[in-house]
Amino acid sequence: MDVTIIVPTFNESLNVEELITRTEAAVGQRAVEIVFVDDSNDETPQVIEEAAARHAIPVRLIHRDVPVDGLGGAVLEGFRVANGSWAVVMDGDLQHPPEMLPRLIDTALGGDANIVAGSRFVEGGSAEGLSDGLRVFLSHFGNGITKLLFPRKLKNSTDPMSGFFAVKLDELDIAALKPRGFKILLEILCRKQMRLAEVPATLAPRGGGESKADIKQVWRLTRQIVELRIGRMPGFALIGFVGGVANLIIMGLLQHAGWNYIEAASAAAAITIVGNFIAQEHWLYHDLRAGARKLWWRFGHSAGFNAIESAVRTFVLFAVVELLHLHNHTVLTQGVLLVIGFLLRYAYHERVVYRQ
Ligand code: GDD
Ligand code: MN
Repeated sequence: MDVTIIVPTFNESLNVEELITRTEAAVGQRAVEIVFVDDSNDETPQVIEEAAARHAIPVRLIHRDVPVDGLGGAVLEGFRVANGSWAVVMDGDLQHPPEMLPRLIDTALGGDANIVAGSRFVEGGSAEGLSDGLRVFLSHFGNGITKLLFPRKLKNSTDPMSGFFAVKLDELDIAALKPRGFKILLEILCRKQMRLAEVPATLAPRGGGESKADIKQVWRLTRQIVELRIGRMPGFALIGFVGGVANLIIMGLLQHAGWNYIEAASAAAAITIVGNFIAQEHWLYHDLRAGARKLWWRFGHSAGFNAIESAVRTFVLFAVVELLHLHNHTVLTQGVLLVIGFLLRYAYHERVVYRQ
């Protein structure tokens, strides 16, 4: 099986028959199956089963009695059960005309991208089906904000909010996805650097029935974006804080045991550097350890950067206090520099030490 077309459905009984018919006609001889992941509380599951029996294309139905994570969770469930090497995600309300499938599938199977997204904003694409001005505005606004926040990961994406895309399943870390709303493509693109290709997509008007999008989805999307952006920062801060406290305790104990304060501080620093690194490796970044870089490379760059950061910070503290005559505000100045240093260390670990 080359491709599994995942169709999330919530009360789409008016659309599924036409969707299967048009999909079957569009994909022709390609090795494709359709998986409906259904959370409906109406007759949609029966309608799907009856329609499937009338068609030759393989159709599976997964009905979730206890839906988890709505549309995003349904797509994830589709990824888990897919037999294809690629998964295509397509809406069940005919807003994504199935006639777009051949171009998407052939670009996926024939190119070297590991994700192919339908875009409304490239030559040949269109968003005619966006029902009102507010949604057009939100859609452009969302695009702009997310591209600002994730310049590198979304560099090649003109439509990260698209719901029509194909992804190569063995390059997807399904366990790492935590869907919060409707925008699963955005999450996939932002979690890991993907090789993206785009094809034009039309967002047609909905078939029958009603949209399930509501203001709650905007809130969920906002939370999703904040979480994706902040990422491991709270964990990184926690390790830094615990390391700092441990450093002081060790220094105190060693001085109590008769060491002089310079020896005690050096030993405490060495112990916390190693301790922080072990915590990063085994807890915070454990999923990225299998990357291209060797353990010693990571340790050298992590500890090296931290050492340079603290030396430079001390020098900057001295320079700033002397030049700006901040002798009455040394603690405040040091506080500001600590925050800046923290952000720099976090950025360096994300972008260099544990770069994906
Ligand atoms: N299984 C399941 N569970 N499916 C759901 C759920 C849910 O809780 N909520 C919605 N769906 C299904 C719908 O049945 C439909 O097939 C598809 O997800 C999209 O939902 P719509 O209600 O039609 O939402 P939309 O038209 O506002 O959103 C579309 O446009 C966006 C682009 O602006 C979707 O295509 C989005 O994926 C897309 O990002
Ligand atoms: Mn829709």
